Amino acid sequence: MAELIEGRKVADEVVATVKEGAESLRAQAGVVPGIAVVIVGSDPASQVYVASKSRKAKECGFHSVQHELAEDTDEATLLTLIADLNADPAIHGILVQLPLPAHIDAGRVIQSIDPDKDVDGFHFINVGKLSTGETDSAFVPCTPAGSMILTQRVRGHDLSGLNAVVVGRSNIVGKPMANLLLAANATVTIAHSRTRDLAALCRTADILVAAVGRPQMVEGDWIKPGATVIDVGINRIPAPEKGEGKTRLVGDVDFEAACAQAGSITPVPGGVGPMTIAMLMANTLVSACRRAGVAAPSF
Ligand SMILES: NC(=O)c1ccc[n+]([C@@H]2O[C@H](COP(=O)([O-])OP(=O)(O)OC[C@H]3O[C@@H](n4cnc5c(N)ncnc54)[C@H](OP(=O)(O)O)[C@@H]3O)[C@@H](O)[C@H]2O)c1
Repeated sequence: MAELIEGRKVADEVVATVKEGAESLRAQAGVVPGIAVVIVGSDPASQVYVASKSRKAKECGFHSVQHELAEDTDEATLLTLIADLNADPAIHGILVQLPLPAHIDAGRVIQSIDPDKDVDGFHFINVGKLSTGETDSAFVPCTPAGSMILTQRVRGHDLSGLNAVVVGRSNIVGKPMANLLLAANATVTIAHSRTRDLAALCRTADILVAAVGRPQMVEGDWIKPGATVIDVGINRIPAPEKGEGKTRLVGDVDFEAACAQAGSITPVPGGVGPMTIAMLMANTLVSACRRAGVAAPSF
């Protein structure tokens, strides 16, 4: 039976380190980390994410501001707001909640964020730093950063000699995750919807990361015995056993079947999910420390 990698517990530890780091930064330099969360429109899922990010920031002792803009806000207005936040010395992290309404060019908006405040790690400067191995000065996207911490909890920091397969090649999860694994010396393969015989490829993986968005797609017999399985997927499926119209969350991996094969595995919920917000707080603290010239804690 696989060891459970308890993301919720690790995320609590990250947040505790962030709180201590924020207190120490205040004591040493009189600086309070500041985060601005910008949301355009009223997508219910985005509203929930933004509220939980703002709540966590307050819990960490941060200065936290939330800008809620109407659905029909034009791009120029949003770019002006970001320029103001870029110039605001009280703000160290800027997060624009995606997706943006279709009339706004999300790429242009992301690239307008000061790379030094890009705590989501989506700016080309940060993407470039990560892909050239400059992981010490890059901001790494929060979900892969959190997934990597969970991986290293069970596999250690040096992944030399291990085969890693990342299923999914998005800019937000798959590609940065592959770069992090590579930086830690794993031998990395990225799979996607055009990959042939995905099952056979997955069976080569000592570390298998599923970031697809297809409920329980990865089957138990795709998993190499003893492998570490990091399930990034968050999918809502019907759960008639809980009552009519009820739903439940599952990952991209068939958890029950995978547990019989894997050496260690993240559950859904309670695995990678909680790490994402924790890493956003960590990135914001790191940004504030860099600005103040104070050493940041390592995560
Ligand atoms: N835990 C968290 O905090 C967190 C954060 C972000 C995302 N997520 C979850 O992680 C999942 C992935 O997110 P994402 O943003 O990376 O998704 P995405 O942008 O939709 O990318 C999905 C990737 O999966 C690949 N794919 C789709 N069907 C496939 C198949 N049948 N076989 C192999 N590969 C396939 C796609 O390949 P192509 O490129 O060829 O189309 C694509 O590269 C989603 O469930 C999302 O909800 C969780």
